[in-house]
Amino acid sequence: MDVIRVKKAPRMDWEVSVPGDKSISHRAVLLSSLTNGVCEITNFLAGEDCHSTIAVMRALGITIEEPETTTLQVHGRRGELTAPSGDLFCGNSGTTMRLISGLLAGQNFASRLTGDPSLSRRPMDRIMTPLNQMGASIQAEVEGKFPPLRIEGRPLKGLHYELPVASAQVKSAILLAGLSASGRTSVTEPAPTRDHTERMLRYYLVPVRREGATVIVHGGQHLESRDFQVPGDISSAAFWMVAAAAQPGARLTIRNVGLNPTRTGVIGVLIRMGATIREVVDDCDKAEPAGNIVVHGGFLQAVEIGGEEIPNLIDELPILAVAAALANGTTIIRDARELRVKETDRLAALAGNLRKMGVVVREHEDGMEIEGPASLQGATLDSFGDHRIAMAFAIAGLFAKGETLITNAGCVAVSYPDFTKSLDVVMKRKTRMAKRS
Ligand code: S3P
Repeated sequence: MDVIRVKKAPRMDWEVSVPGDKSISHRAVLLSSLTNGVCEITNFLAGEDCHSTIAVMRALGITIEEPETTTLQVHGRRGELTAPSGDLFCGNSGTTMRLISGLLAGQNFASRLTGDPSLSRRPMDRIMTPLNQMGASIQAEVEGKFPPLRIEGRPLKGLHYELPVASAQVKSAILLAGLSASGRTSVTEPAPTRDHTERMLRYYLVPVRREGATVIVHGGQHLESRDFQVPGDISSAAFWMVAAAAQPGARLTIRNVGLNPTRTGVIGVLIRMGATIREVVDDCDKAEPAGNIVVHGGFLQAVEIGGEEIPNLIDELPILAVAAALANGTTIIRDARELRVKETDRLAALAGNLRKMGVVVREHEDGMEIEGPASLQGATLDSFGDHRIAMAFAIAGLFAKGETLITNAGCVAVSYPDFTKSLDVVMKRKTRMAKRS
């Protein structure tokens, strides 16, 4: 089993780049596959989730070359996919399964999507309902809502859909299906979610309109081939941001990170907690704004996190819970029920692991209260196979007395393959992921 060992780190004074954005890397592969030519994607995230998307698109007839680990050449086929010869394995990746379902809904062949044990426990009815209303036939083999999914592609008709939960994956699945549907497809979201699909469709010259909370596309679209550079992932940057923000005297610069306003909620919360953080957007003429983040460490204060900001920082809540344990006062997280259906039940995993480190936590159905500042105790903690839980508690270990062990930690490769190398730099040491039988 892979184990990460962490000890208290010296004061941080560091400049780092984080790997390419996971959400954007998935979409770059999917959308460039639909174009009319060869698209080069640079700074692609060479993580396991995005490799699942590559493997599935290859199985659907798309040629994808990898001249370097972070450079792809995708040969677009104008939306023509070919019937796969076997199951399409999506690994741990909900984004792969949900977005590709949107593409497969309108194809003239049948397919079956499978996932690892974690993905097999994640609800798919949220995409089945709208895609079936558009005319597809999608069935989930387990309890009517869990993978494997059987998709029989059919001619689709446009739909207006009001999302019951704020989810960029569901919105994106519907918009992708809408590209090949007849007429107009529109999606209204209850709170703004990441808008990468909309921005990137526009980048490939597909008109996408937004009217208030509603996003609109029309069917019969053609995507124009173009090269694309993926910015660094703010969700990966967030781990180092918290490590620096909570350490008085620390200094950190993160270069070339995505600063899309639908993803920067974590910066706003850390500033509310009293952190000194500056974001400098230096590239806003592309599909996705990017720039640098500069953090100066200090003492953090407790905050309340909830409401419409939740979708904007949904993946950063694990590391923000660690920040809360280090902050002065009781932090309240609410409206975050969605954390229960991520790679693991993140609310339960956070509460259990924080308690093991000596933090007082009250868990609620849709969030938690965390009392700080805790003097964290080193502990042996399970990642539950969830990459963000593993990395959040590795950062917690940097502040703990004694050694912290994260077990079952190979999952960091899902979104941040070199995480432990960077952790070693932060700890100024040479050891890293140790193998334990
Ligand atoms: C993602 C959307 C979010 C996020 C996930 C990636 C995406 O999920 O948690 O890590 O790329 O669209 P939901 O859409 O389920 O909220």
